[in-house]
Amino acid sequence: MSSYPRESFNIGLEVLSTSLLISSKMKKFCIDQLRQVLSSPTQYEVRHVPQVMYQIIVLDTPTTEVRFHIYEDCKETYIHNHKHPFLSYGLQGGYTEKIWRWDKDEKSKFFCFVRHKGGQLNAPHEFLGRLSQWYTRKHFVGNILTVGNNSYHSIASASGRELPVTLIIKDKSLDSGQTLVLSKTREIHEPIIPIRSPGREEVANCLKILERILKKFERDNPSLLPMLA
Ligand SMILES: [Fe+2]
Repeated sequence: MSSYPRESFNIGLEVLSTSLLISSKMKKFCIDQLRQVLSSPTQYEVRHVPQVMYQIIVLDTPTTEVRFHIYEDCKETYIHNHKHPFLSYGLQGGYTEKIWRWDKDEKSKFFCFVRHKGGQLNAPHEFLGRLSQWYTRKHFVGNILTVGNNSYHSIASASGRELPVTLIIKDKSLDSGQTLVLSKTREIHEPIIPIRSPGREEVANCLKILERILKKFERDNPSLLPMLA
């Protein structure tokens, strides 16, 4: 008979039931947000970050922001941080997130650009140190990924698969002050195209994607459908 401590066993069960509860609450929350957007789509702002993603803003208050992100490219993004920490819930497709760090190294240098709201970058500042990949994480359908505002990451979606769609919940009460882009080179070759308002057809395509996701959710999670009288 194993002498495994009962208390540890109970903690394990508690963690399991809490994560199952969070997962089912998250699904329910997503379904509610999808239904809300699809029932009155003109009420919601849609933004296009060219060559990266469409953003559908569901809620934006001084403390919280909720958005859908519909990615449109598999190319790897710049290494960057975020102004606010956020949680990302995978709704379609998936991507690999690389987390970066820099170490003291007098013989190496890297460059840091301040990024403005529209996506424009300031002239680079040069730093001594070695920029390197620290670890990677996979994001996938049903996964909850949390990203701190002081973590530097780049995102690469898997080619040949459905492009990623995520639900983002941002905590705006925590603020890193500024967003930065890091690079091993002084020049960033890709042009940064400012955020724009998409045309009617682009918005309709985004809504079609969300509609397909909602239908799949409802098919796969019948217990989350509303109770009928
Ligand atoms: Fe990011």
